[in-house]
Order: sequence, then structure tokens, then C-alpha cells
Amino acid sequence: MKEAIDQIFKELADLKAASAKEVEEARIRFLGKKGEVTALMEQFRTVAPELKREYGQRLNELKKAANARIEELKFKVEESEVASAPKEDLSMPGDSFPLGSRHPVSIVRQQIVDIFRKFGYDVAEGPEIEDDYHVFEALNFPPNHPAREMQDTFFVSTGHLNPLLLRTHTSSVQVRTMEKQSLPIRVVCPGRVFRNEAISARAHCIFHQVEGLYIDKDVTFADLKQAILLFAREMFGPETEIRMRPSYFPFTEPSAEVDVSCNICHGKGCNICKGTGWLEIMGCGMVDPNVLKASGIDPNEYSGFAFGMGVERIAMLKWQVNDLRHYFENDMRFLQEFATATEV
Ligand code: DAH
Repeated sequence: MKEAIDQIFKELADLKAASAKEVEEARIRFLGKKGEVTALMEQFRTVAPELKREYGQRLNELKKAANARIEELKFKVEESEVASAPKEDLSMPGDSFPLGSRHPVSIVRQQIVDIFRKFGYDVAEGPEIEDDYHVFEALNFPPNHPAREMQDTFFVSTGHLNPLLLRTHTSSVQVRTMEKQSLPIRVVCPGRVFRNEAISARAHCIFHQVEGLYIDKDVTFADLKQAILLFAREMFGPETEIRMRPSYFPFTEPSAEVDVSCNICHGKGCNICKGTGWLEIMGCGMVDPNVLKASGIDPNEYSGFAFGMGVERIAMLKWQVNDLRHYFENDMRFLQEFATATEV
């Protein structure tokens, strides 16, 4: 029996297994019901009493060693299986991440600018924090003139002759352009403007405008009308008609407000155009001689027209989203609606 035990110890030491199946076979060979170790345990009953103590101990050690060796082989096989398995599962679908898209206001602003660029207009920009002179005075709003009431203003600094303020319209960029650019001038000025308005579906304290200015010799109201008609047809479709209503702005004379034919009901009357068949899109007019003079342009030699429109207003008409607040809240569900709306 002693030799048999030693022999099994040796076999255990030499034991090898390359797979889980071979480990299991080894377990059965030594420790299974008919296994070599199990068989020795059974033989133990026939061992002479004086040898029982020694052999008993030795057998127990053998059983432990056999268990330990099987466990060891099992562990090794598992480890090598993990090591040889591919590290990444290349068949797993990739993580998707949402792509950003342009804001609807940016899309429409760009469309407006692109249309005028096609007509030969340059783009001009100016500061959002402006002085009173460029927002009001040079545009023929005298100090304390009631026309200033048309635009509730956020002041940044007051108490001196030329207070700083958040520009209430992009018409201020007209003035800056006239001051520094040589004639003729043909520019559009997109930008953010600020007014002290209570926020509602129809008004906001921040919004966007695109201003236009064309100054040359012999520019007439007919040129203005044609430029706006062409713009309206590019923006709202070739069937679009415009009409002009007399209006008042300090910086233009004569002044007008422009309506486009409703592109929803085509003039029949609907709830978007409030049954009139027309939608207001901008203010415009011939640049007032006082405005030309203030920026050093001789009104006897040059004339020009100007116009100004609200970008959100155009976006509302284009997409029938009639609550202005949607454009500022940046709710992802709203923004995602415009992810593919980039065509003019
Ligand atoms: N600045 C005007 C506004 O904010 C819009 C405007 C009207 C601009 C007539 C113009 C214009 O250039 O000619 O309400």
C-alpha cells in the first residue's frame, strides 16, 4: 500500500490537463467512485491495526493533495482560456452618441445672409454693447425724442452724454459701416439685440435681427422694393408676393413695413395670418438724409435704402413655431426637430 500511495503522489505531480474536459477526467481517475485514491481508501479497511495510524495519515494527505492538484489544474486551464480569448468583442455594436446640429435661429439667420450674399451684399458686424450715439443719436433719434420709447433699452452705464447700452437693434451697425467703409455700401448685419421686454410667446428680451443697407448714387424706393421682393421669393417660395404699408422710423424717410403673402393659406386667410392673407416680416425705408449726414455722406450725392428684420419672426413663419420661448429654452426635443433642416 505504501508503494501505491507513493506512486499516486508521483502521478499527481506529473499530471497534466489542457482543457476542462481533461481536468474532469483526471478528477474521475483519482477521486471518482472508482478512482485510484478512492480504491486505496477502501483497501485501508484491510490494513493491519498497527499500521492504520501511519497509513491513515498518509492516505488523508494523498486525498488532500489529489484535491489540491485537481483544483490547481482547473484554475490553470481557466486562466489560459481567459488569456487566449479575444480581448474585445468586435461584433458588439458601437456606442452611439448624439451629433449636435445647428440651432433653428442660426439656420434661418444663415439662410437670410446667404440670400443677400447671392445679391452681392457683404456681411458686417458690430458690438452688442454699444453707445447711445450709434444706437440712437446717429440714427436721427434726438435726445429725449419719444421715438426712443419704441425700444425699451437696457442701459449699462448712464449719467453721461453718451451712455453705454445693449443695442436694441442692429441698425447701429449701419452707422459703424457708413463711418468706416467707402461707398458704395451694400451690407447685411446679422446679430443679437436686447430689449427690456417681459418674456412671453410673442416677445423676448433677447432676439436676433438682420439689418440691410445699400447706399450708392441714384438708389430709389423701387430698388428697395425689388430687393425685398427677390429676398421674399428666395426665402418663402417663388409664388410669394409682398406689400408695403407706410410706417415711421426715425432713420428712414419714407418708411414702410413689409408684409409677405401667407405661405400657408396662399392669401385665403388662416389662423397664422389671422385671416388677412398677409404676414409682417420687416421694416424698411430710404435712409434719412440726416442719417447719411451724421456719418459724413453727402445726401445730395448719395441715397440709399435700409431694412431690418427679426430672425425669430422669419423662423416662426417658416416653421409655424409660434411661441418665441421655444427658440431660447434649448429643449433638446425641440432642437432635434431641426437636425436636418439646413436647406434654403
Ligand atoms: N431697427 C428697426 C427695429 O429694430 C428695424 C428697421 C426698420 C431697420 C426700418 C431698418 C429700417 O433698417 O429701415 O425695429
